[in-house]
Amino acid sequence: MNVYDSARMADVLAPLGYRLVDAPDGADMVILNTCHIREKAAEKVYSELGRIKALKRAKAESGGSMVVAVAGCVAQAEGEAMTERAPVVDLVVGPHTYHRLPELLARAERRRAAGDGRGRGIIDIDFPSDAKFDHLPAPTHTQGVSTFISVQEGCDKFCTFCVVPYTRGAEYSRPVGQIVAEAERAVAAGSVEITLLGQNVNAYHGIETKSGETWGLGRLIRHLAEIAGVARIRYTTSHPRDMDEELIAAHRDEARLMPFLHLPVQSGSDRILAAMNRQHGAGDYRRLVDRLRAARSDLALSSDFIVGFPGESDADFQATLSLVRDVGYAQAFSFKYSVRPGTPASMMEDQVPDAVKEDRLAQLQALLRAQQAAFNRDQRGRTLPVLFTGPGRHAGQLVGRSPYLQPVHAIAPARLIGTVVEVAIESVQPNSLAGRLAAPTPAANDERVVA
Ligand code: 5AD
Ligand code: SF4
Repeated sequence: MNVYDSARMADVLAPLGYRLVDAPDGADMVILNTCHIREKAAEKVYSELGRIKALKRAKAESGGSMVVAVAGCVAQAEGEAMTERAPVVDLVVGPHTYHRLPELLARAERRRAAGDGRGRGIIDIDFPSDAKFDHLPAPTHTQGVSTFISVQEGCDKFCTFCVVPYTRGAEYSRPVGQIVAEAERAVAAGSVEITLLGQNVNAYHGIETKSGETWGLGRLIRHLAEIAGVARIRYTTSHPRDMDEELIAAHRDEARLMPFLHLPVQSGSDRILAAMNRQHGAGDYRRLVDRLRAARSDLALSSDFIVGFPGESDADFQATLSLVRDVGYAQAFSFKYSVRPGTPASMMEDQVPDAVKEDRLAQLQALLRAQQAAFNRDQRGRTLPVLFTGPGRHAGQLVGRSPYLQPVHAIAPARLIGTVVEVAIESVQPNSLAGRLAAPTPAANDERVVA
């Protein structure tokens, strides 16, 4: 979602004459778009600001000036504390108000010109009652072959470990019309894959103004799949509780919906899931996976896991390992529980010592790595539809993505970038696959084929 937000910030700033550059050195403005989900992500911001301070000084010494802004959830959570700890920061803007960047920039400029407010940045971390999406210009910064579209923001779930409900605020779904317009524009600009984004994306319930109906995510996906030129649809991140019938049916009926689903479970222990306020048990998750696989037999799964949540015993952790063994993941993210100030779990007793977290994380990651390697190995000898996204590592090579998001390398002409092509998988590296273009055959799953 930060990638999406960053592109939208560039759209907002384009009319002021700003354009994107590849490196912060010498830039007129640097925006750090930040994540607050774990402590490590937040700490990275301050170390990066140290580096940017040197660049700002160098720019000033050469007679220029650099505006330093911090956006995103660290900005939202830290507010004024940010400019106090890092006076290099001129502007602090949360995820709800970046459409106001031009106005904030003008204020920062005025303050600088007047020579006042040294070390006092401009802060905007409001939760405005109107949605920023109603104020943003149409996207002009195209994202290439594959486009992220934010359809939902915020979260009302309040998992006890998580800062999102506090930084991103209450759940909000964009109206269907806005999303369709954004998808059509992306396709016109050459995109063939759309990834629908939201912190809790399958809680989507957007208004379709013509009918006055409220659409869920399944309905939205079916509609977007009808846009000519859309070859692939994905969505992330989902909550197991919001996986409704309509969405499961979309996995069964809609070939353009890729058979790869990121469905975080966090833990395999009912006790821990309850303490996390996940609102489902491990059995519910297992049954849900069964229903999804009944709908789409080739569905591959990904998940997020937290180890060392307060009170997690060895038996709880074993329950997580056993759920992983039962479900079988193609890929997964796993983290040590990180205390986030202000969240209920941060105040729980029985915090788990770091050494225990470290040991559990190593065990879990070894299992997940083995599952991922096995999943990748299984692709050898298969022919997969690959969406080529750009040049590969070696001359003459392109890289693309399989339906399961694995990077795939193949010798192929550049004109195939932006098309879905059948590739016979011949070898499997730790993090990618390699193969050769297969003879042109009709794609089994109705994707656009060029070969
Ligand atoms: N500690 C560790 N991991 C966390 N996540 C969210 N909050 C925390 C935390 N406090 C993980 C969850 C979530 C992913 C985006 O980040 O697994 O699904
Ligand atoms: Fe955080 Fe996801 Fe839980 Fe919402 S559902 S509180 S975003 S972990």
